[in-house]
Amino acid sequence: MKVTVVGAGAVGATCADNIARAALCEELVLLDIREGFAEGKSIDMMQSATLLGFDTKIIGSTNDYTKTAGSDVVVITSGMPRKPGMTREELIGINAGIVKGVAENILKYSPNAIFIIISNPMDTMTYLALKSTGISKNRIIGMGGTLDSSRFKYYLSQAIGCSPNDLQGFVIGGHGDTTMIPLTRLATYQGSPVSNYLSEEVLKKVAADTMVGGATLTGLIGTSAWYAPGAAGAALVETIVRDQKKLYTCCVSLDGEYGQKDICLGVPVIIGKNGWEKIIDYKLTADEQAAFNKSADAVRNMNNVLSTL
Ligand code: 2OP
Repeated sequence: MKVTVVGAGAVGATCADNIARAALCEELVLLDIREGFAEGKSIDMMQSATLLGFDTKIIGSTNDYTKTAGSDVVVITSGMPRKPGMTREELIGINAGIVKGVAENILKYSPNAIFIIISNPMDTMTYLALKSTGISKNRIIGMGGTLDSSRFKYYLSQAIGCSPNDLQGFVIGGHGDTTMIPLTRLATYQGSPVSNYLSEEVLKKVAADTMVGGATLTGLIGTSAWYAPGAAGAALVETIVRDQKKLYTCCVSLDGEYGQKDICLGVPVIIGKNGWEKIIDYKLTADEQAAFNKSADAVRNMNNVLSTL
C-alpha cells in the first residue's frame, strides 16, 4: 500500500504521523510546496521509527509529484488554515486554486487513488475535487463529519462524565460553524439514548459547542486545530486500506439521497477499499431534514462562488 499526504503543515504532518504509527502502508509520501519542509518532517518522523517500532518508509517531497506515483490513497490538506475570528468559508479564494492544482497533479501519477479532502472550506473543496478530476464519486471523500462527530462525542462525554469511546453519535450536514447538524436524537451511551442522561438544555449546549468546536480551538491556539483533524484523516485511511467497512459521516456527492443533488455534503457512509461504498439512510425527522436542506443551501451558495474565482 502507498499513501500520499499533500501538505506537511500541522494537520498533514499529524495525519502522516498517525498513518506511520499504525503501519497503514509500506510507503508514505509527504509533499509540500515549501522547499525542504516535507523532507525535514519526514526525516524527523523516520527518526522516531525505532522508538515507536514502525516500518513504514516515509518520503518527503518538495512539490515533486512523480514521488507520489501509484498511491492508493491521497489525503489533501493543502491550503491556508483559518486564523482566530475567520470562518472556514473565508478561505475559498486562496484554497480553491491550490486544491484544484493538487488534485489534478495527483491524478496524473495516481489514476486509481482514493482522495480524502481536509482543506477548507471542506464541503466546497470536496465538490471542487470531484468536478476537477472527473473521477468516480465514490473515490472522493471529504473528512469533515468524521472530525465533527468525534468532537460531538467529546462534548457528550464531558457532559455525561463517561468515556467518549462508549458513545455513538454523528454529525451530518456541512463542515461549517452554522451548517453542521449534531444528531442528538440518535446519539447513544452504550445503546441507550443520551437524552436518558442529559436534559434538553444540556443537549442543546453540547450541539452548540460541537458546531463551533473548531473555532473554539482556533481562538485558543491561534490557528486551526490539528491533532483531531489529522487523526480523523488517518482513521479514514485505515478503513480504506484495511477494508474495514466502518461507518463515518463524510462529505460525499449526493444524487438524490437525503433529498439533495449536485452537492457534496456530510452523510453517514460505509467506507472500505473502494472509497465510500454506501450511504446509510438515517430517516431524518422533518426538523432534521429542514436543517439539512438549510445546510445544503449554504454549501451550494459557497459552491457557486467557485465559478466567480
Ligand atoms: C477543524 O475543524 C481543520 O476544519 C478543521 O479544525
